[in-house]
Amino acid sequence: MSVILPVSMQRWPEDYFHARRREVLATWPTGAQVDLHEAMAYLRTLPPHQSSALVLKQAAAEGRAVMQPRAGIALIDELIQVLQELQEQGGADLLPTNLDTYTRENNYHLAELGIEESKKQGRNMLNGLPVVNYGVEGCRRIRAAVDRPLVIRSGAADSRLVMEVAWAGGYSDVPCGGIIMPTSHHKKVSIADSIRYWQYVARLGAWYTERGWPINHEVFGGLSGTLVPPSICLAYVIIDSLIQAAQGIKHVSPGYTATCHLVQDVAGVRMLKRLADEYMARFGFDDVTATTTFYQWMGAFPCEAAQGMALICWNTMAAVLGGATQIVVKSYQEATGLPTAQANAESLRATKSVMTMLANQRLPDSPELLEEMHYIELETRAILDRVIELGNGDVVLGAMAAFESGVLDCPFSCWLPIANKVLPARDASGAIRFLDPGNLPLPQESIDYHRARLNERARQRQVPLNYALTVADVVAVSEGRLIG
Ligand code: 5AD
Repeated sequence: MSVILPVSMQRWPEDYFHARRREVLATWPTGAQVDLHEAMAYLRTLPPHQSSALVLKQAAAEGRAVMQPRAGIALIDELIQVLQELQEQGGADLLPTNLDTYTRENNYHLAELGIEESKKQGRNMLNGLPVVNYGVEGCRRIRAAVDRPLVIRSGAADSRLVMEVAWAGGYSDVPCGGIIMPTSHHKKVSIADSIRYWQYVARLGAWYTERGWPINHEVFGGLSGTLVPPSICLAYVIIDSLIQAAQGIKHVSPGYTATCHLVQDVAGVRMLKRLADEYMARFGFDDVTATTTFYQWMGAFPCEAAQGMALICWNTMAAVLGGATQIVVKSYQEATGLPTAQANAESLRATKSVMTMLANQRLPDSPELLEEMHYIELETRAILDRVIELGNGDVVLGAMAAFESGVLDCPFSCWLPIANKVLPARDASGAIRFLDPGNLPLPQESIDYHRARLNERARQRQVPLNYALTVADVVAVSEGRLIG
């Protein structure tokens, strides 16, 4: 069956999925190593505590948070050493493998050169592991060398071959999202292609899950990483959770990106869990386990290590008080490049320390917290309901129409087709507000509220409300302040 089906929310027919798989596996020689039934036999030999889905589900049931760092270099033996250090010295609960940029662009020839150059020069020449080049055998070597669940951290629009190789090799998780990845990482990819690529990955994850190796699908909430208002983040990750769930996945972990404003972040994570569960149930996906993932600050970091560490700890407070299940941990070397294993482990230990001290504390409900939750809920529902309406119940069709009209939009996205009309700025307390909501279908009550909060800042600080304010806020955190 070589006809490509029109893009929609429908679950792919089995034979259609397998026809697409044959095409994907033929794109690089290591694709031939993937045999689903052989892989299932291998995965059955792994203990359940090496499955991300099961680790997250158990943490959520116990009301605990788990930590995942980021790491990835060109040579596999050196990466194994890094992962062992993150496991032993950092106490990481899940272990990452970030992909290099060539692999994210499906350029496995250049990735191969990166491996060769790294060997020749005796230093790391790639910004991640070229997973496809190392193949199933390489992944199984990593699997055998560490004891925590393994996660591919892919920002690629097309991660189909990467996930074929990695899941057959013992990995059990990936940040995903057909509507998210263009906004986050790609200048030109078509939205229909991106949605199809991630439907494939969801379908593949469902295949393993249905046969007893549960795969988790973290829905990447980082977006542009730059002053993303919480309701935009929530709308995106809930839409992509629905799209993934329609392909049959059973474990989803929608992500929330830190604003660095304590009350707003606690409100955001709480609302994410509530609305994700509600919308999944509304579409009949109530058998899907939804946990939440919290990303420490995704914007520019301070260069100074002490300030970087403070930011990491500050974000951890909000994640724990908001009840997030997973925290994706930055390092205090974020501003200067890829972290050393030691700095990465130290950042994990600092995160763990805050988590431990806060474990049994909750932020009491306050008028400010309830107000923040109210507006995040109102806005997220407004966007989601309009997307559903635009697609007559099909959120894939709805999301595609929503991007065209700016009903879905995100500030500072690199994706050229996005409307790019929304402008954020911080209010006097540092919460992210809409300076310009663009074409987002926000209720008037919400538009008025954001405007009033921004006017307060303008009055207090004697500054005009304009683009210069947004720019100052974009760089503020990297200078150790919240407000520009
Ligand atoms: N090693 C460590 N961190 C990485 N990141 C991306 N690739 C790697 C890698 N190979 C981190 C970036 C940024 C985040 C999105 O991912 O530093 O914080």
